[in-house]
Amino acid sequence: MLLRIIYVSRARSSLPLELKDILASSRKNNPALGVTGAMGFLDGLYLQYLEGEASVVTTLYKRIEQDSRHSAPKILESQPISERAFPGWSMGLLTWNDETKKIFQQFNPSGSLDLYDADTATIDSLVRSLTASANWMAL
Ligand SMILES: Cc1cc2nc3c(=O)[nH]c(=O)nc-3n(C[C@H](O)[C@H](O)[C@H](O)COP(=O)(O)O)c2cc1C
Repeated sequence: MLLRIIYVSRARSSLPLELKDILASSRKNNPALGVTGAMGFLDGLYLQYLEGEASVVTTLYKRIEQDSRHSAPKILESQPISERAFPGWSMGLLTWNDETKKIFQQFNPSGSLDLYDADTATIDSLVRSLTASANWMAL
């Protein structure tokens, strides 16, 4: 069974080096695990979308949860999927720019970007809209 987990967490630092290391680990490990997905680093928060075999994704998430480079991980959505949204990406990276911000604002008319407050329906549409935009870098 394929499962996807979307979670948000608070980055320990805003250093691009940490993000680079995290992406390097993902690129190294995810292909062998059959895990694909995407992540964004947005205003000090990580938003990550992981998809793959349920047991593998669950185990990987447990490992990521323990990582001291972030804190307060919160699962926004965890549900079975029939097909992958990012079949070719070991971990795509979303860049934070005017277009991305506009997409966030559509989902968040108050202008607040607190992903911790996003509900399941919102986060699913949000990830889909972000994916459809030109702001992802496949890695
Ligand atoms: C926000 C975040 C996302 C991460 N995503 C992944 C991932 O998709 N795949 C992965 O193998 N490790 C990921 N990691 C890193 C793991 O927590 C862990 O450091 C790594 O898997 C250890 O493997 P390594 O020693 O081979 O690098 C992530 C860490 C953070 C903080």
